[in-house]
Amino acid sequence: MTLAPTSELVEGARSRRSAVVAFNVISLEHAEAAAAAANASRRPVILQISENAVRFHVGQLEPIAVATEAVARHAHVPIALHLDHVTEDALFAESLDSVFSSVMYDAGLLPYEENLRRTAGAVHQAHAAGLWVEAELGYVGGKPDSPLSAHAEGVRTDPDEAADFVRRTGVDALAVAVGSSHAMRDPTARLDHELIARLRERVSVPLVLHGSSGVSGEELRTAVAAGIAKVNVGTALNVALTRSIRAELEADPTNVDPRRYLTPARESMTARMLEILDSIP
Ligand code: G3H
Ligand code: ZN
Repeated sequence: MTLAPTSELVEGARSRRSAVVAFNVISLEHAEAAAAAANASRRPVILQISENAVRFHVGQLEPIAVATEAVARHAHVPIALHLDHVTEDALFAESLDSVFSSVMYDAGLLPYEENLRRTAGAVHQAHAAGLWVEAELGYVGGKPDSPLSAHAEGVRTDPDEAADFVRRTGVDALAVAVGSSHAMRDPTARLDHELIARLRERVSVPLVLHGSSGVSGEELRTAVAAGIAKVNVGTALNVALTRSIRAELEADPTNVDPRRYLTPARESMTARMLEILDSIP
């Protein structure tokens, strides 16, 4: 199966009033787990690597990107590659000539006009290189270095601003702040479905939900019905991975073979991914 462009998977999902799930890849095992889940469910997925994951790989994008691309190419269903939460100019420049078909340019923390100016510039360059671009308006928050909470005053995406932002930047998709927050370990977030519906009415491009680990299956279904077309999931996979490794090592403290604890850990991620994929219509 060949790689699919992100645009195709997101637009395809949107036309079916569904959403495509984008799984965060930190290690090779995340990519392998996601490909296994995609194959088993026969659903296309997006594999996304974030700027933070690149930092973890000692600042090198290429090794993890090339490995992830190879995993995606061997899958039996379409898989797209996305570079996520890019704030640094050097990484953005690297995305322009890479295995990725899309990039999220993340200036969501900046004041509105500055976010708009920078995003418009990024879109111009990315489109010239054939990339699909996602940007954030409002602020999802919740990452370890986030200065604001998802519930702070004024962080939710304003529909009028969103319409103006999309029109003036030319972005292909918009990440919206509608009540989810990054890095939640339990699915207890309550989304503002009415706000999602208003955004859907005002904004022509697909809407993206970040921080979806904190969103229950039922909330996700409602959000997709209201207009979310791309669902980003990271932390839930790491919860599954880490729980499994902890249990394996506690059960056998003499084990020093990573294959013996990473095999069930990878399977735990696949199982969690399948639950998430199953919750999307
Ligand atoms: O961009 C990535 C996602 O927003 C992941 O969020 O780790 O809270 O699921 P999460
Ligand atoms: Zn995110």
